[in-house]
Amino acid sequence: MNKWFYINLSVFVLALWNVFTHFSFPGLLLHVSLGLFGLMLILFNWTRHAMYSTIRSSHDRQKKIKIAQLIKKDMPFHRWTGTAALIIILFHGTSAIHHFGFQWNNLKFLSGLLAVFILAGVVVTGWMRRIRPTGLKRRAHLYFGISLILLITVHLLF
Ligand code: HEM
Repeated sequence: MNKWFYINLSVFVLALWNVFTHFSFPGLLLHVSLGLFGLMLILFNWTRHAMYSTIRSSHDRQKKIKIAQLIKKDMPFHRWTGTAALIIILFHGTSAIHHFGFQWNNLKFLSGLLAVFILAGVVVTGWMRRIRPTGLKRRAHLYFGISLILLITVHLLF
């Protein structure tokens, strides 16, 4: 398996750990449930990157064809899953700010706020690629995606 599968799995396990050990568990607060749901959609889309990486690095032709078929099947849903994730995460952030007030000295809030902007960048460049694809838009979409995963990890750790 490609290293990105392990990275995605680790982020997911970290999020589950935070949620299952949250003081409100199992009657979770709304913002925590929304955060987890949005993250699941983000990771679902980001797994596409792990699949592309596997196609590039694998020598097994059958495996490459199988993965390419899976990617193609998800094609019509990809941009909608991403857009839905942005909307859900916007509700998550708003709900968290409503609950605690915005805390400028708290890394959870700062990393979350930055991650929302990056997530918006991922979604916007995704739609821009759809309208008129260029190499620059492809790279921007990818680098926004990598930065998003890093920031989400910081958000979950602090
Ligand atoms: C304006 C943006 C954001 C703010 C202000 C924010 C704030 C917060 C806060 C305060 C918590 C802790 C909840 C608690 O302990 O009761 C939290 C949890 C969480 N957030 Fe965010 N967040 C933002 C963006 C994001 C983004 C972009 C993601 C990406 C998926 C995300 C995913 C999660 C998850 C999964 C949790 C639950 C696990 C945990 O508590 O660490 N959040 N968020």
